[in-house]
Amino acid sequence: MKLDLGALELGVATAATQIEGGDADTNWHRWAAEPGHVADGSTPTRAADHWNRVDEDVALLAELGIRHYRMGLEWARIEPRPGVFDDDAIAHYRDELAALRAAGIAPLVTLHHFNNPGWLEERGTWLGEEAVPAFLRYTERVVGELKDLVGEWITINEPNVYAAVGYAFGVWPPGGRSMRQGMRVMSRMAQAHIQAYQMIHAAQPGARVGVAHHLRLFDPACLANPLELAAAKAYDYVFQGALLDAMAFGRFRPPLRAAAGTGPGRYYDFTGVNYYTRAWVSGVQQDTKPGVPVNDLSWEIYPQGMFRVLRAVAARYPGDIYVTENGTADAADAFRPRFLYDHLLAVVRSGAPVRRYYHWCFTDNWEWAEGEVPRFGLVHLDYDTQARTVRESGRFYADMIAHRGVTDDAYARWVVPAAAGSGVAGD
Ligand code: FCB
Repeated sequence: MKLDLGALELGVATAATQIEGGDADTNWHRWAAEPGHVADGSTPTRAADHWNRVDEDVALLAELGIRHYRMGLEWARIEPRPGVFDDDAIAHYRDELAALRAAGIAPLVTLHHFNNPGWLEERGTWLGEEAVPAFLRYTERVVGELKDLVGEWITINEPNVYAAVGYAFGVWPPGGRSMRQGMRVMSRMAQAHIQAYQMIHAAQPGARVGVAHHLRLFDPACLANPLELAAAKAYDYVFQGALLDAMAFGRFRPPLRAAAGTGPGRYYDFTGVNYYTRAWVSGVQQDTKPGVPVNDLSWEIYPQGMFRVLRAVAARYPGDIYVTENGTADAADAFRPRFLYDHLLAVVRSGAPVRRYYHWCFTDNWEWAEGEVPRFGLVHLDYDTQARTVRESGRFYADMIAHRGVTDDAYARWVVPAAAGSGVAGD
């Protein structure tokens, strides 16, 4: 055996807006309809047509032996108008969850994954006073309706990315360009999480609830350069450190601000970690380290980052860790098997209490402002025909699940021939 996964369970992750397709009125449908917002001009109306292909997708998960499935809900389908809930949409999700469970697959359900109903965009987005009460109303309804089928919830996916890219960098809806507003959204989301955490536990005492945090390394290009060192520390604190403490413990430090109902406590049953890459801090800019292997989106492939992030999380946030996302854009499926092996090795070697690893993504999917071009799937998707074809990396993943690790044969078959990346940074 090349790698023994022990008790670590492997699953796959998805998100509603990226796979379901259809014309729900979400912030992303509105945003993508405007020219220039999505790199290839695509919209989420096509995606993987998962809404109509639930049975096929559940059968494929089962065929690959996958027992853990992270999925999101489309808030705009469930609550198409403020306070008005759609029984058919809820029934659809109930059917999906029942089908997963019947196939022996345990769901982990995300309530908010960058997706708002269009009406919330009109009523102030997450900058407005209505966002938190609206999110709690939706959460209460969903948990009441689905709790017999769902034992584990993620309240919010990557609040730091949503706040930064949507409110400070202007590239995602609602297109804001203000650091101050980005920080306000982070504070609001921390409040929403803490209150949702308490609400879910009141409704479902045995539930396990957490946040899927986007965590990256910020490494100074030169350790001897005090400016770079300070810049890397500041990025780490403002982008993630302060927010994790607020969401986990109700400990709000500037620039975050506490709201009512968010006193000190412990507001997680597991820490979700989405790990993809690191940032190379050169001067005060974030960059990619020159010369390193990169993926199709030019993100550095840095498995040691998984090791380092997990150790840091384990030291500060005691309790179970779930790697709620990790994966890479590799249209040719040239290096994904090695990426998988190296990152899983890092998980195991970290010694952190990681119980689950959810690979992003199950099938190729609509990648937000990047559209349909990046290919993150273990399963290839033909967007025109909607045909699903398992990639070799998907076969490797199934083999790891079956053997609870990487056998010598699997290593020779999939890892040895794999490339290190699709290119090298700076080339
Ligand atoms: C994460 C998102 C996920 C997907 C991957 C590639 O930041 O949570 O939806 O876009 O990146």
